[in-house]
Amino acid sequence: MAQEQTVTPWEVKGDIDYGRLIREFGTEPLSESLLKRIQKHTKELHPYLRRKIFFCHRDLNWLLDEYEKGNPFFLYTGRGPSENVHLGHITVWKFTKWLQDKFDAELWFQMTDDEKFLFKDNLELEQTNRLAYENALDVIALGFDPKKTKIFSNIDYAKTLYRQALKVAKKLTFSTVKSTFGFTDSNNVGEIFYTSMQSVPCFLPSALKGKNIPCLIPLAIDQDAHFRITRDIMPKLGYYKPALIHQRFLPSLAGSGKMSASEGVQIWTTDGPEEVAKKIRKYAFSGGADTVEEHRKNGGNPEIDASYQWLTFFEEDDKKLEKIYHDYKSGKLLSGELKQILIDTLNVFLKEHQAKREKARKVLDKFILKD
Ligand code: TRP
Repeated sequence: MAQEQTVTPWEVKGDIDYGRLIREFGTEPLSESLLKRIQKHTKELHPYLRRKIFFCHRDLNWLLDEYEKGNPFFLYTGRGPSENVHLGHITVWKFTKWLQDKFDAELWFQMTDDEKFLFKDNLELEQTNRLAYENALDVIALGFDPKKTKIFSNIDYAKTLYRQALKVAKKLTFSTVKSTFGFTDSNNVGEIFYTSMQSVPCFLPSALKGKNIPCLIPLAIDQDAHFRITRDIMPKLGYYKPALIHQRFLPSLAGSGKMSASEGVQIWTTDGPEEVAKKIRKYAFSGGADTVEEHRKNGGNPEIDASYQWLTFFEEDDKKLEKIYHDYKSGKLLSGELKQILIDTLNVFLKEHQAKREKARKVLDKFILKD
């Protein structure tokens, strides 16, 4: 039975109906004509665009209008450092790196160590602050350009951020925060203030340079609520509304099928090859038939098979992916074999990622903003 969906910045659960999110949040689907328009500038389309893994947006047409008029944009995204990074987090950043390359754009990357301290009972400020820098290694490992990328902890860059956050906070009422997030009188006052901090990078480069610069935010759809608030406030401060491009969640490994969000067992970016193999063999939900004979006869169902769904995020080659789809559906490829393909694909990625992540320690300083 379908489980009722919840998608807020604080909780994602249930079987997610992305069409319904578009309607409820009031975003726009990524249309074929918009994809063509992006492709005019990028030449090729990232697999996440071709596969509609990024599936809706706000104001992308406006952003491209500005770009075409010679008014380039910067990128903004972020991370709540409450734990190590897992593969579900990495996917938005991989796409962000592609955008940086294709549009030669600056990236402002916010580590919300303040947020995770305020919202998680079990975390101390020192922990989230330390995790901000550990998590930054995963961001850097993806190859962002140090000259064009600024990573900052909200705590350690507070002097600059707070000055701007105040301007947002003055325009944001408790009643808006309550109705947007369902907060009550029992929420702590830091939580009530927090969206002001997450809003700042949307206009900080404009404030620092003294001219309006368009902003594009690649994000998982659960973060949209913050920016609905930000977008209402920006014109009141004389800035552009940020444009957004929203990603689906990497489906949960153990969940039955593609809709439920990433929860439960995770694959961490620091997992070794044996750990990865063990988790996938043990937990990855299979869309295969119960017996080999039955599978050979009737085939498997890639639509609900977690390994196949994960490959749509991690196998970039369309032809390979298509072959896997058909071979699995026809029964030629068995569930164990499909799992092995995923294991190998992830382990190739992780081996390289882990090496780059260690190297990132040496260049961390080049990326970090503090004041
Ligand atoms: N609040 C986000 C999280 O918990 C982190 C974040 C800050 C973010 N700024 C962002 C995410 C901008 C996407 C875009 O993960």
